[in-house]
Amino acid sequence: MSYFPIVRMRRVRENKTIRNMLTEVTLEPRHLILPIFVCAGENISNPIRSLPGVSHWSVDRLPEVVEPAVALGVKAFLLFGLPSYKDADGTSAFDPEQPVQRALGSLREKYPDIFLIADTCMCEYTSHGHCGHLRPDGVVDNDETLSLLSRAAVSQAHAGAHMVAPSDMMDGRVSAIRAALDAADLTGVGIMSYAAKLASAFYGPFRDAAGSAPSSGDRKGYQLPPFNTREIIRDAVMDIGEGADMLIVKPAGPCLDIAARLRERTELPLAGYVVSGEYVMLCTAAEAGLLDRELTLLEYHTALRRAGCDLVITYYATELASLLANRAVKL
Ligand code: PBG
Repeated sequence: MSYFPIVRMRRVRENKTIRNMLTEVTLEPRHLILPIFVCAGENISNPIRSLPGVSHWSVDRLPEVVEPAVALGVKAFLLFGLPSYKDADGTSAFDPEQPVQRALGSLREKYPDIFLIADTCMCEYTSHGHCGHLRPDGVVDNDETLSLLSRAAVSQAHAGAHMVAPSDMMDGRVSAIRAALDAADLTGVGIMSYAAKLASAFYGPFRDAAGSAPSSGDRKGYQLPPFNTREIIRDAVMDIGEGADMLIVKPAGPCLDIAARLRERTELPLAGYVVSGEYVMLCTAAEAGLLDRELTLLEYHTALRRAGCDLVITYYATELASLLANRAVKL
């Protein structure tokens, strides 16, 4: 290997044209997935206090958030629901009249070319806010939860989801959901599993937005310990074996190493999820005039692509697509 002064790296860097020509990693609107919070009721667009710039939408007003995204080339949406009722077993998760199911039906009809993913979890639907069936001793029962998740997934798929995205972190949920979908003749509906979902403090603003914070305890008994690399990879690899079609890694920024390792381990498509806490970090700093909003957004999200993510789930999807359309803003 040659070294300085024979080699001068700046020969391919100082000139703007060759620098642009050599850009390895790109971010395009087609890589982006926009999460949407759908609520019960009509004519609702309620700004979410914990997520500035993001709103709760009733089904009838979804075009106001979907259309600008589609016009800029964002093709996929991840739906979260705020149901009209909650109970101990989260049965509104598989009620066809609830917001996510109604939104799926309505969006499938209005926009035949978009791709719809439904978040499959119990925490938005249970009165206690845990991601499954809670035993009297306060532990979430893994195997009881599998049947609830399967019912939710089948209900979402019947309503029009192209993929379901289990985010509960129970063991065996991917194979249970796959079996339930297949038994219901929904073999074409895929599973985008939250394969590496850490027990993270970065979900705080989301729990406020979705009303899904656990009323007691935490999620450390089922979500992954942030500082255990081998355990995280092992858990993600289980989902591959159970038949997941795509894998999600989150929170994205703190998990770049995990994304890179999974990229080496599997040929499955990978998505990084820039979660609510990452969203507020970037907007708050930009709002305070401490960071350049456009450049930091582009750099942050492109880094996920560099780490090996095919897709990026982000509340910034529409804004990013508009930045990418504006050729004046370049990294
Ligand atoms: C549901 C779910 C959560 C997120 C996605 N699906 C919250 C949680 O696990 O508490 C977090 C997304 C975000 O923070 O933007 N289990």
